Amino acid sequence: MRIFEGNFTQQEAIPQDAIDAAVAVLKGGRLHRYNVASVDEMSETAALEVEFARYQEQRFCLACASGGYALQLAMRAFGIESGEAVLTNAFTLSPVPGAIAAVSARSVLVECTEDLVLDLEHLKQQIITSKARLLLLSHMRGHIVDMEKLCALLQEHNVALIEDCAHTMGATFNARKSGSHGVMSCFSTQTYKHINSGEGGFLTSDNDEMMARAIVLSGSYMLYERHLAAPTPEHFKEIKLHTPNCSGRMDNLRAAILRPQLRLLDINARHWNERYNALAGQLAHAGNTIILPKRHPLAYEVPSSIQFSIPRFTDEQNQHFLQQCSDRGIELKWFGADQPKAYTSRYDSWQYLEHTPLPQTDAVLRRLYDCRLPLTFSVADCSLIGEIIVEIETNIT
Ligand SMILES: Cc1ncc(COP(=O)(O)O)c(C=O)c1O
Repeated sequence: MRIFEGNFTQQEAIPQDAIDAAVAVLKGGRLHRYNVASVDEMSETAALEVEFARYQEQRFCLACASGGYALQLAMRAFGIESGEAVLTNAFTLSPVPGAIAAVSARSVLVECTEDLVLDLEHLKQQIITSKARLLLLSHMRGHIVDMEKLCALLQEHNVALIEDCAHTMGATFNARKSGSHGVMSCFSTQTYKHINSGEGGFLTSDNDEMMARAIVLSGSYMLYERHLAAPTPEHFKEIKLHTPNCSGRMDNLRAAILRPQLRLLDINARHWNERYNALAGQLAHAGNTIILPKRHPLAYEVPSSIQFSIPRFTDEQNQHFLQQCSDRGIELKWFGADQPKAYTSRYDSWQYLEHTPLPQTDAVLRRLYDCRLPLTFSVADCSLIGEIIVEIETNIT
């Protein structure tokens, strides 16, 4: 019996040039982003912001403490007020409703489809009933909804968009970068994301007023002129004394680690796709019993994990399946569990929210499995994982 021996939470080592850059920062002792030896010195954090803004084809970028913090900042910079409704996905991870709660707003959840994206019909109903001004869209597990249809709907109803791109760094829709459709977009550089600094995040935007507010909110003291992917100083004049400091900056050590990784992102995106395709190709051998979400033909995704469902399983068969996968070294997350294990992605786990049942999302999550694909796995490893899953599934009758 074949057993898979890889570790599902082992990411790749930090590249040597990133380690060298980190050591140089440590030797210099100037870890704080505004601590420069002379006014002409560009800190690692400022340089990273310029490079990430360029990568995203956006004018502005702010590097900050985490992706969840970037979400909070984006909503505050947009002007969300206490008690206000914010639309978001029912199927996402806990930092998303958590960020909405952190700005004292109210999550209004939108159903997800079988393809794990936002249900646009339900979104329309929720816009009308909630009168929300903002959608915080989570591209959960990297699945990208039809952005053109979504943007047309939002425009028709005068609803703004903030994108949570924690799972879509490097992805595109119709050749446009994921994270370039809304007024602001947020990214995470936490260890399990596409580039890894342990903790960290980005906020990007083309909007001068919002980005100026976000920079002051992030704790820029009066040093905003040291930001080089930022609005011009006149945009700060009106707001700088009226905007609170809610410190959450990135430091130079993390930025130094991230810059070389950003240069590898597009190559690594291909590596993730090769691994995903190898595993997905094996799952297809099960016939039509193992169902993968369909990608939109215009979406280029960067799948650092794979999701699939097995609708035919009874509860008992599901338990056998999970047990046998675990026995053979395959670590799966099952979204149907009553009690959350590790990270939570079921909206009924977030009991601080007002709840209305979402039967479509419940049905989708009931038989949905999730499997990480770290780049420490080879393409052959991913094929083997797929073969073992199919073997187990086929034998459960
Ligand atoms: C969908 C999603 N959004 C936002 C975040 C927040 O990122 P961070 O962990 O950097 O705060 C995460 C992190 O897991 C996430 O999965």
